[in-house]
Amino acid sequence: MDAVIVNEVGPRDGLQNQPRMLEPTDRARLVRALLAAGVRHVEVGAFVSPKAVPAMAGSDEVLRLVGEAPGAILTVLVPNLRGYEQALAAGARSVCMVAYGSEGMAQANVRMSRAEADAATAEILRRAATDGVRVTVAIAAAFACPYDGPTDPGRVEAMTGRLLELGADEVAVADTIAAAHPGQVRALTERLVRGCGAERLSCHFHDTRALGLANVYAALEAGIRKFDASIAGLGGCPFAPGASGNVATEDVVMLLEQMGYASGIELDKLMRAAELARELTGTAPGGRASAWIRQEVARRARAG
Ligand code: COA
Ligand code: ZN
Repeated sequence: MDAVIVNEVGPRDGLQNQPRMLEPTDRARLVRALLAAGVRHVEVGAFVSPKAVPAMAGSDEVLRLVGEAPGAILTVLVPNLRGYEQALAAGARSVCMVAYGSEGMAQANVRMSRAEADAATAEILRRAATDGVRVTVAIAAAFACPYDGPTDPGRVEAMTGRLLELGADEVAVADTIAAAHPGQVRALTERLVRGCGAERLSCHFHDTRALGLANVYAALEAGIRKFDASIAGLGGCPFAPGASGNVATEDVVMLLEQMGYASGIELDKLMRAAELARELTGTAPGGRASAWIRQEVARRARAG
């Protein structure tokens, strides 16, 4: 059975956009619930400016409260060198740095040019090699940017190649604004897999246009074997009409299970994590397949 890794990003990409800000204790509870379901890759927080993203304040405390998680990779997002240093001081052994497919997105997100962000990434990769820290680089706006329009796939391919050469452990191709349809996803991921192999690639999709799972499927067919997802579809900005969260983890796990891929995640326990996410935030939409999954989990329980 082919293995597919699900990287849970709800505690970061999800919670950073919720109207209700969670305490580190509750954020850590959510991470623990995910680990208990068999999730082995979790983005637990971010070392960013608390003025830019107030909900990620206290990510050091979240790391501390989650504590040891044998066999799991707990990642934190860092926007710059300063974030990297703080993450390391807090005990992080895996970081996610962001590179930009467009100039507009780089400015909006970190007030840097693409070139400045690239230079910061190169410096982090250099340090991480010495520090023994794992680095994922996410290419934001890999398909399109709200400011600059469509992103040239050739640019994304060149960036991916360069980042892997510089020693990135993983490059995550991120459809930050849910602009891509499965045809584009298939075309880009096939191109990247052909050029760089699938081992160090992953994909990050949002479900704003109900294309999240279709895009996962398209990338899966192209050979991608790692996907970001967010428990209960957490995410999206409640103040930005139409914006919505990452593709829901339970939907992705359901798809993988149905298609015979091994994710190592148990749906019944994952649904408990989804319930917790809904309870804690009050706004998590839940996966599109939630009702079906709950019935299926109950049926399996009855069948023993
Ligand atoms: N962690 C915490 N604080 C940081 C920081 C970091 N990694 N990097 C900079 N800061 C602080 C500075 O010390 C400064 O604090 P002060 O106002 O109290 O003096 C403040 O943040 C602004 O710093 P500056 O260097 O002028 O940066 P900026 O205002 O241009 O903001 C970022 C740049 C990167 C710090 C900010 O835009 C940011 O954190 N963005 C993250 C966005 C994000 O997480 N998006 C979602 C993920 S894709
Ligand atoms: Zn995202």
